[in-house]
Amino acid sequence: MKPDYKDALILALDRGIAEPLGLWRMYNAMQLQDLEDGWKQVLKCEQALRPEFIKLDRAGCSVVPQFEDAEKSSGAIILLGRNRKVNEANIIRAWNACDEGAQIIVAGDKTAGVGSARKWISQKTEIADSFSKHHAVVFWFIKKDDIWAEPDLIKEVEGYHLAEGMFSSDGPYKGSILLAEHFDKRLGGPVTDLGCGWGYLSNELLKRTTKVTELALYEADYHALEAAKKNVQQYEGLTPTFHWCDLTTEYKKKPYQWVIMNPPFHTARSADPELGKRFIQVAASTLPSGGRLLMVANRNLPYEDTLSKVFRHFKVLQERDGFKVIEAVK
Ligand SMILES: C[S@@+](CC[C@H](N)C(=O)[O-])C[C@H]1O[C@@H](n2cnc3c(N)ncnc32)[C@H](O)[C@@H]1O
Repeated sequence: MKPDYKDALILALDRGIAEPLGLWRMYNAMQLQDLEDGWKQVLKCEQALRPEFIKLDRAGCSVVPQFEDAEKSSGAIILLGRNRKVNEANIIRAWNACDEGAQIIVAGDKTAGVGSARKWISQKTEIADSFSKHHAVVFWFIKKDDIWAEPDLIKEVEGYHLAEGMFSSDGPYKGSILLAEHFDKRLGGPVTDLGCGWGYLSNELLKRTTKVTELALYEADYHALEAAKKNVQQYEGLTPTFHWCDLTTEYKKKPYQWVIMNPPFHTARSADPELGKRFIQVAASTLPSGGRLLMVANRNLPYEDTLSKVFRHFKVLQERDGFKVIEAVK
């Protein structure tokens, strides 16, 4: 793998830009290969995406999906992600959670907008120094005694609880709206929503049929799942269950009569049909013979081979606006 901004950060730490003393917090934490033991011992990590969370946990790091403790830290590291507002919120949270005089280190590359993050910070405080390597920049600054106003990432759109950074944070996604149009009274019994996001599909399902006897929602993004808990309206006698889970590695199969899903088509940085294919395999694995999958995908995504391998048959129910709705029978 090509070296990236995480390698640049390791190199900077190895060169002694900071001392691993006291308590350090890492925001949007990722597993850092070859990180010195001294750092491992002082770092508390925050990571809301389950696949990355699992990697950190398995590497023996202290990790939570969301920092909640009030203890001040003696330093902070922020790894930039793709969402500018989330990046800025992480930097501000780190500033406010640090002791005066603490060092705050930011690492990122062009795709994560490291240039504009640096410019934004330099309007708020002085940048102490920086280090560039592997097309990445690591820069740092020192906490002063003031507190910065934290932006609210949570918003309400069309009555839904959403937050910046999660999938379709501006409201229901076009492809998912199309899929929901196919939720009719045929759907019932135990149902699962794989990659449920903030709960749009499950909520539409429960609005359109009362035949669901069990509803299990699975999602890797902790914040999206927390939003789903608020967004999925319930009806009497049905208590949906919510599972923070990496479906590709830790799903424990249970028999459902229906799977509904709009599978992910991106990994952190690029389009990746393999992830969607893996979701189709998981859907097939959890359905007994005769069970059905109802899914939507971008028309260009090559899922047909996988569908014909793991399902008895499938058909495209509708194509519209660049999407296809597919029903597959196990
Ligand atoms: C295309 S979005 C669909 C979200 C929602 N079902 C909707 O229709 O609005 C796919 C969802 O899968 C989630 N996801 C991605 N990788 C995952 C994984 N390995 N395990 C579980 N969920 C995952 C993403 O966080 C995202 O919320």
